[in-house]
Amino acid sequence: MRIVRAKDYEDMSRKAAAIIAAQVTLKPDCVLGLATGSTPIGTYKNLVAAYEAGDLDFSQVKTYNLDEYRGLPGDHDQSYRYFMNVNLFDHVNIDKANTHVPDGLMEDYEAACAEYDAAVAAAGHQDLQLLGIGNNGHIGFNEPCDSFIKGTHCVDLTESTIQANSRLFDSIDDVPRQAYTMGIGTIMGAKSILVVANGDAKAQAVHDMCYGPIVPSCPASILQLHPNVVVVADEAALALCPVE
Ligand code: PGA
Repeated sequence: MRIVRAKDYEDMSRKAAAIIAAQVTLKPDCVLGLATGSTPIGTYKNLVAAYEAGDLDFSQVKTYNLDEYRGLPGDHDQSYRYFMNVNLFDHVNIDKANTHVPDGLMEDYEAACAEYDAAVAAAGHQDLQLLGIGNNGHIGFNEPCDSFIKGTHCVDLTESTIQANSRLFDSIDDVPRQAYTMGIGTIMGAKSILVVANGDAKAQAVHDMCYGPIVPSCPASILQLHPNVVVVADEAALALCPVE
Protein backbone atom coordinates (compact mmCIF):
# COMPACT_ATOMS: atom_id res chain seq x y z
CA MET A 1 0.00 0.00 0.00
CA ARG A 2 1.34 3.39 -0.89
CA ILE A 3 0.29 6.27 1.36
CA VAL A 4 0.25 9.79 -0.08
CA ARG A 5 0.00 12.51 2.57
CA ALA A 6 -2.14 15.49 1.67
CA LYS A 7 -2.17 18.77 3.59
CA ASP A 8 -5.93 19.12 3.71
CA TYR A 9 -9.16 18.22 1.91
CA GLU A 10 -8.41 20.40 -1.12
CA ASP A 11 -4.93 18.95 -1.50
CA MET A 12 -6.32 15.40 -1.12
CA SER A 13 -8.93 16.14 -3.78
CA ARG A 14 -6.40 17.54 -6.25
CA LYS A 15 -4.03 14.62 -5.77
CA ALA A 16 -6.79 12.03 -6.13
CA ALA A 17 -8.15 13.72 -9.25
CA ALA A 18 -4.65 13.78 -10.74
CA ILE A 19 -4.38 10.00 -10.30
CA ILE A 20 -7.77 9.41 -11.94
CA ALA A 21 -6.96 11.89 -14.72
CA ALA A 22 -3.71 10.03 -15.42
CA GLN A 23 -5.70 6.79 -15.73
CA VAL A 24 -8.14 8.34 -18.21
CA THR A 25 -5.30 9.93 -20.19
CA LEU A 26 -3.29 6.71 -20.38
CA LYS A 27 -6.31 4.55 -21.27
CA PRO A 28 -9.15 6.65 -22.70
CA ASP A 29 -11.50 3.63 -22.75
CA CYS A 30 -10.75 2.66 -19.15
CA VAL A 31 -13.20 1.23 -16.65
CA LEU A 32 -13.51 3.33 -13.49
CA GLY A 33 -15.08 2.04 -10.30
CA LEU A 34 -16.60 5.07 -8.61
CA ALA A 35 -17.66 5.99 -5.09
CA THR A 36 -20.12 8.36 -3.47
CA GLY A 37 -20.04 10.13 -0.09
CA SER A 38 -18.66 13.48 1.04
CA THR A 39 -15.02 12.55 0.56
CA PRO A 40 -14.88 12.24 -3.25
CA ILE A 41 -16.94 15.37 -4.01
CA GLY A 42 -13.80 17.55 -4.25
CA THR A 43 -12.11 14.91 -6.40
CA TYR A 44 -15.03 15.02 -8.84
CA LYS A 45 -14.95 18.84 -8.85
CA ASN A 46 -11.32 18.72 -9.91
CA LEU A 47 -12.09 16.19 -12.65
CA VAL A 48 -14.89 18.42 -13.96
CA ALA A 49 -12.47 21.39 -13.95
CA ALA A 50 -9.89 19.34 -15.88
CA TYR A 51 -12.57 18.38 -18.39
CA GLU A 52 -13.67 22.01 -18.76
CA ALA A 53 -10.06 23.03 -19.31
CA GLY A 54 -9.94 20.57 -22.21
CA ASP A 55 -7.52 18.23 -20.47
CA LEU A 56 -9.78 15.18 -20.09
CA ASP A 57 -12.05 13.22 -22.40
CA PHE A 58 -14.60 10.86 -20.84
CA SER A 59 -16.27 9.88 -24.12
CA GLN A 60 -15.01 6.29 -24.02
CA VAL A 61 -14.88 5.81 -20.24
CA LYS A 62 -17.10 3.20 -18.59
CA THR A 63 -18.01 3.46 -14.91
CA TYR A 64 -19.39 1.07 -12.29
CA ASN A 65 -20.42 2.50 -8.94
CA LEU A 66 -19.95 0.71 -5.67
CA ASP A 67 -23.38 0.88 -4.16
CA GLU A 68 -26.94 2.17 -3.96
CA TYR A 69 -29.59 2.40 -1.27
CA ARG A 70 -32.22 -0.30 -1.55
CA GLY A 71 -35.61 1.19 -2.38
CA LEU A 72 -34.47 4.57 -3.70
CA PRO A 73 -35.16 5.32 -7.37
CA GLY A 74 -32.35 6.92 -9.37
CA ASP A 75 -34.10 10.30 -9.42
CA HIS A 76 -34.37 10.46 -5.60
CA ASP A 77 -32.06 13.24 -4.43
CA GLN A 78 -30.36 10.93 -1.91
CA SER A 79 -29.83 8.09 -4.38
CA TYR A 80 -26.29 7.44 -5.47
CA ARG A 81 -27.30 7.56 -9.14
CA TYR A 82 -28.52 11.11 -8.53
CA PHE A 83 -25.30 11.94 -6.66
CA MET A 84 -23.16 10.75 -9.56
CA ASN A 85 -25.19 12.68 -12.12
CA VAL A 86 -25.03 15.90 -10.10
CA ASN A 87 -21.38 15.64 -9.04
CA LEU A 88 -19.79 14.25 -12.20
CA PHE A 89 -21.74 12.73 -15.06
CA ASP A 90 -23.85 15.80 -15.92
CA HIS A 91 -20.70 17.94 -16.22
CA VAL A 92 -18.42 15.86 -18.44
CA ASN A 93 -18.74 14.22 -21.85
CA ILE A 94 -19.37 10.73 -20.53
CA ASP A 95 -22.03 8.65 -22.33
CA LYS A 96 -24.63 7.97 -19.60
CA ALA A 97 -25.20 4.56 -21.20
CA ASN A 98 -21.65 3.73 -20.10
CA THR A 99 -22.33 4.63 -16.47
CA HIS A 100 -23.63 1.97 -14.10
CA VAL A 101 -24.97 2.24 -10.57
CA PRO A 102 -26.75 -0.70 -8.91
CA ASP A 103 -30.49 -0.24 -9.33
CA GLY A 104 -32.04 0.51 -5.94
CA LEU A 105 -35.37 -0.84 -7.20
CA MET A 106 -34.12 -4.18 -8.56
CA GLU A 107 -36.70 -6.85 -7.91
CA ASP A 108 -34.96 -10.18 -8.22
CA TYR A 109 -31.97 -8.72 -6.47
CA GLU A 110 -29.86 -11.86 -6.22
CA ALA A 111 -29.98 -12.27 -10.01
CA ALA A 112 -29.47 -8.54 -10.57
CA CYS A 113 -26.45 -8.46 -8.23
CA ALA A 114 -24.93 -11.44 -10.04
CA GLU A 115 -25.51 -9.64 -13.35
CA TYR A 116 -23.76 -6.55 -12.00
CA ASP A 117 -20.66 -8.61 -11.15
CA ALA A 118 -20.82 -10.31 -14.54
CA ALA A 119 -21.00 -6.91 -16.25
CA VAL A 120 -17.95 -5.63 -14.34
CA ALA A 121 -16.06 -8.79 -15.32
CA ALA A 122 -17.22 -8.59 -18.97
CA ALA A 123 -15.98 -4.99 -19.11
CA GLY A 124 -12.55 -6.32 -18.09
CA HIS A 125 -12.77 -5.29 -14.39
CA GLN A 126 -12.03 -1.82 -13.04
CA ASP A 127 -8.75 -0.32 -14.22
CA LEU A 128 -9.04 1.98 -11.22
CA GLN A 129 -11.43 1.69 -8.30
CA LEU A 130 -12.02 4.81 -6.20
CA LEU A 131 -13.00 4.14 -2.58
CA GLY A 132 -13.94 6.19 0.44
CA ILE A 133 -13.76 4.55 3.86
CA GLY A 134 -16.43 4.58 6.54
CA ASN A 135 -15.69 5.56 10.15
CA ASN A 136 -16.21 1.87 10.91
CA GLY A 137 -13.82 0.68 8.20
CA HIS A 138 -16.46 -0.15 5.61
CA ILE A 139 -15.72 0.04 1.89
CA GLY A 140 -18.69 0.45 -0.40
CA PHE A 141 -21.37 -0.73 1.98
CA ASN A 142 -19.41 -3.77 3.07
CA GLU A 143 -20.01 -3.28 6.75
CA PRO A 144 -17.94 -4.86 9.53
CA CYS A 145 -19.13 -8.46 9.88
CA ASP A 146 -17.77 -11.93 10.45
CA SER A 147 -16.85 -12.81 6.89
CA PHE A 148 -15.79 -11.06 3.69
CA ILE A 149 -18.65 -11.28 1.17
CA LYS A 150 -17.36 -11.76 -2.33
CA GLY A 151 -19.98 -10.61 -4.80
CA THR A 152 -22.45 -7.75 -5.10
CA HIS A 153 -25.15 -8.26 -2.48
CA CYS A 154 -27.78 -6.68 -0.27
CA VAL A 155 -26.64 -5.49 3.16
CA ASP A 156 -28.25 -4.32 6.37
CA LEU A 157 -26.64 -1.00 7.23
CA THR A 158 -25.14 -0.72 10.70
CA GLU A 159 -26.40 1.85 13.22
CA SER A 160 -23.09 3.73 12.87
CA THR A 161 -23.53 4.08 9.09
CA ILE A 162 -27.19 5.06 9.43
CA GLN A 163 -26.15 7.72 11.96
CA ALA A 164 -23.28 8.97 9.77
CA ASN A 165 -25.48 9.21 6.67
CA SER A 166 -28.50 10.73 8.43
CA ARG A 167 -26.90 14.17 8.04
CA LEU A 168 -27.99 14.06 4.41
CA PHE A 169 -31.63 13.13 5.06
CA ASP A 170 -34.46 15.15 6.65
CA SER A 171 -34.58 12.74 9.54
CA ILE A 172 -32.81 9.56 10.60
CA ASP A 173 -36.04 7.66 9.95
CA ASP A 174 -35.71 8.50 6.25
CA VAL A 175 -32.32 6.76 5.91
CA PRO A 176 -32.79 3.43 4.12
CA ARG A 177 -31.86 0.46 6.30
CA GLN A 178 -30.49 -1.62 3.45
CA ALA A 179 -28.28 -1.11 0.44
CA TYR A 180 -26.77 -2.98 -2.49
CA THR A 181 -23.00 -3.03 -2.63
CA MET A 182 -20.23 -4.47 -4.71
CA GLY A 183 -18.68 -7.27 -2.69
CA ILE A 184 -15.12 -7.47 -1.49
CA GLY A 185 -14.23 -9.79 -4.39
CA THR A 186 -15.71 -7.35 -6.92
CA ILE A 187 -13.65 -4.53 -5.40
CA MET A 188 -10.46 -6.59 -5.12
CA GLY A 189 -10.82 -7.52 -8.81
CA ALA A 190 -9.82 -3.96 -9.71
CA LYS A 191 -6.37 -3.56 -11.26
CA SER A 192 -5.64 -0.57 -9.07
CA ILE A 193 -7.38 1.01 -6.10
CA LEU A 194 -7.37 4.61 -4.87
CA VAL A 195 -8.66 5.25 -1.35
CA VAL A 196 -9.45 8.82 -0.28
CA ALA A 197 -9.92 9.84 3.35
CA ASN A 198 -9.94 13.08 5.30
CA GLY A 199 -10.69 14.26 8.79
CA ASP A 200 -9.97 12.89 12.25
CA ALA A 201 -13.17 10.80 12.34
CA LYS A 202 -11.42 8.50 9.82
CA ALA A 203 -8.09 8.23 11.64
CA GLN A 204 -8.77 4.90 13.38
CA ALA A 205 -10.28 3.32 10.27
CA VAL A 206 -7.35 4.49 8.12
CA HIS A 207 -4.87 3.11 10.64
CA ASP A 208 -6.67 -0.24 10.81
CA MET A 209 -6.97 -0.40 7.00
CA CYS A 210 -3.23 0.07 6.56
CA TYR A 211 -1.71 -1.51 9.66
CA GLY A 212 -4.35 -3.56 11.46
CA PRO A 213 -5.01 -7.29 11.19
CA ILE A 214 -6.80 -8.38 8.00
CA VAL A 215 -10.21 -9.09 9.45
CA PRO A 216 -13.81 -8.69 8.24
CA SER A 217 -14.52 -6.55 11.30
CA CYS A 218 -12.51 -3.91 9.38
CA PRO A 219 -13.47 -4.65 5.76
CA ALA A 220 -10.93 -2.13 4.38
CA SER A 221 -8.08 -4.16 5.93
CA ILE A 222 -8.40 -6.65 3.03
CA LEU A 223 -6.85 -3.97 0.82
CA GLN A 224 -3.47 -4.86 2.36
CA LEU A 225 -3.63 -7.97 0.15
CA HIS A 226 -4.12 -5.99 -3.07
CA PRO A 227 -0.92 -5.37 -5.03
CA ASN A 228 -1.75 -1.86 -6.23
CA VAL A 229 -3.40 0.41 -3.67
CA VAL A 230 -2.78 4.12 -3.16
CA VAL A 231 -4.24 5.86 -0.12
CA VAL A 232 -4.50 9.64 -0.44
CA ALA A 233 -5.38 11.07 2.95
CA ASP A 234 -5.00 14.32 4.82
CA GLU A 235 -2.96 14.84 7.97
CA ALA A 236 -5.99 14.41 10.25
CA ALA A 237 -6.96 11.06 8.73
CA LEU A 238 -3.32 9.91 8.98
CA ALA A 239 -2.89 11.07 12.57
CA LEU A 240 -2.63 7.50 13.94
CA CYS A 241 -0.40 6.19 11.16
CA PRO A 242 3.38 6.17 11.52
CA VAL A 243 5.27 8.64 9.31
CA GLU A 244 7.28 6.41 7.00
P1 PGA B 1 -17.97 9.80 3.44
O1 PGA B 1 -18.29 8.26 3.34
O2 PGA B 1 -17.08 10.10 2.27
O3 PGA B 1 -19.30 10.48 3.33
O4 PGA B 1 -17.29 10.01 4.74
C1 PGA B 1 -17.28 7.38 3.05
C2 PGA B 1 -17.83 6.00 3.04
O5 PGA B 1 -18.75 5.72 3.84
O6 PGA B 1 -17.36 5.18 2.25
